[in-house]
Amino acid sequence: MNRPVPCPVGQYVPHLLGLWRARFSSGVPVDPRGSRLLPDGRLTGPELYEAAAAVKELSRGFTRERGLAGTPYMDDPGLLGGYLLFYWTVSFAQTWAALLSAGLLPGKHLEGRRVLDLGAGPGPSSLALLAAGAGRVTAVDRSAPALEIAVELARRSGRRLETRVADLASGARLPEGPFDLVTAVHTVNELWSDRDDRLDRRRAFVERLAGLLTPGGRVLLVDPALTATANEAIELRDALVAGGWRVLAPCAREEGCPALPSGTCHADVAWDPPPAVRRIGHAARIGRESLAFSYFLLESGGSVPHHRAAAPPKGAETPAEERPDGSPPALYRVVSDRFLAKSGRLRVLLCGPEGRFPLSVDGRASFPSAGTFRSLSRHDLVRVGGVEQRATGWGLTPTSVLEVVARAPSMEDPRARQDRRTQSAPRRRPSPRRRPR
Ligand SMILES: C[S@@+](CC[C@H](N)C(=O)[O-])C[C@H]1O[C@@H](n2cnc3c(N)ncnc32)[C@H](O)[C@@H]1O
Repeated sequence: MNRPVPCPVGQYVPHLLGLWRARFSSGVPVDPRGSRLLPDGRLTGPELYEAAAAVKELSRGFTRERGLAGTPYMDDPGLLGGYLLFYWTVSFAQTWAALLSAGLLPGKHLEGRRVLDLGAGPGPSSLALLAAGAGRVTAVDRSAPALEIAVELARRSGRRLETRVADLASGARLPEGPFDLVTAVHTVNELWSDRDDRLDRRRAFVERLAGLLTPGGRVLLVDPALTATANEAIELRDALVAGGWRVLAPCAREEGCPALPSGTCHADVAWDPPPAVRRIGHAARIGRESLAFSYFLLESGGSVPHHRAAAPPKGAETPAEERPDGSPPALYRVVSDRFLAKSGRLRVLLCGPEGRFPLSVDGRASFPSAGTFRSLSRHDLVRVGGVEQRATGWGLTPTSVLEVVARAPSMEDPRARQDRRTQSAPRRRPSPRRRPR
């Protein structure tokens, strides 16, 4: 099992709440004990009320009608303040989770690296990159007030952040590279969001980034897991793949994404928010026990032929050992939670060279691969062999091989994770509802 890599976002919470109180709260009457945070970093009752109202307004603008997308909401002090109270920590943790999922953490992959963070706002993604070891981060946003907060938060945590105010949608000149990594966290979905040709514009935008990269440099795109934004992120991924980009993570296939046109796909990482943020989320009626987001780590330049493998999976006999043509055995990404089908079989969805399809096992089976199956989580990377072909997908039998090549990233105590895996009943088939950011 992967060692958990705790997310250090908790250390920023006192700075976030302190900054909000000093610069953004309306100065509602504070607790008679004075204007300091309550002993465990909490807001006072009236402050919590005000905070919840701002967070709710942001939540409505980010999810339902997406009314804030494309507007300069970060220039509104009430909304910028609200962002610090809740979404800042969520975005920091999502960036951390995306770095883990993409294999850029743990380890020294980012050590000393130069990173450009586009649409950085008040800096959660930038500060997560610095905390992950990046040597130099340049944050770009069209909101000067948001970048000013990002610089202040970096200063308070003993780090340095470079910034540039620029409108990414206007073709403004970007900082000169080369950069080892360019990130855009919850940014691309906001670019040209009201235009019919937004996919073409976003593709051209990412293609332009290739000119800022070092040889082997990468682009990390993170977007919300809402059905609409996740699907647009996948469409962008497909358009880039068609243009020769390689998807280094999370996909275990190079061709077009088999989730489209009607399905979707996203990562979902367990997370325990800092207590003060949990309280604010609770007051705003927004839960956050896990981080759902879509992400792609991309590399430009490879010329990969593009074709959609829409055919149902063949080759039930595909062994976990080498294939007849000598190529290494295929890898498959688990792209759903485990769920219990009406037939009594446990299922997950796998995604790999043949497309996206179910792998299932009899819910009562006790052979070795059934045990491994019960330990599977979304985002695990597996090899499968000796399976039977079923009406839909592959089924495990007593002679099947199921090997977990890499476990999904974890940010929490392994005991909590193990408890969830072994004790929780598998979910019923998930309904295709909208996912929160
Ligand atoms: C949801 S916030 C994400 C901020 C930060 N990356 C994070 O993960 O929390 C989206 C950011 O994109 C910025 N943005 C949106 N459209 C932009 C544009 N055309 N040019 C520059 N920045 C833009 C917004 O100002 C905002 O700060």
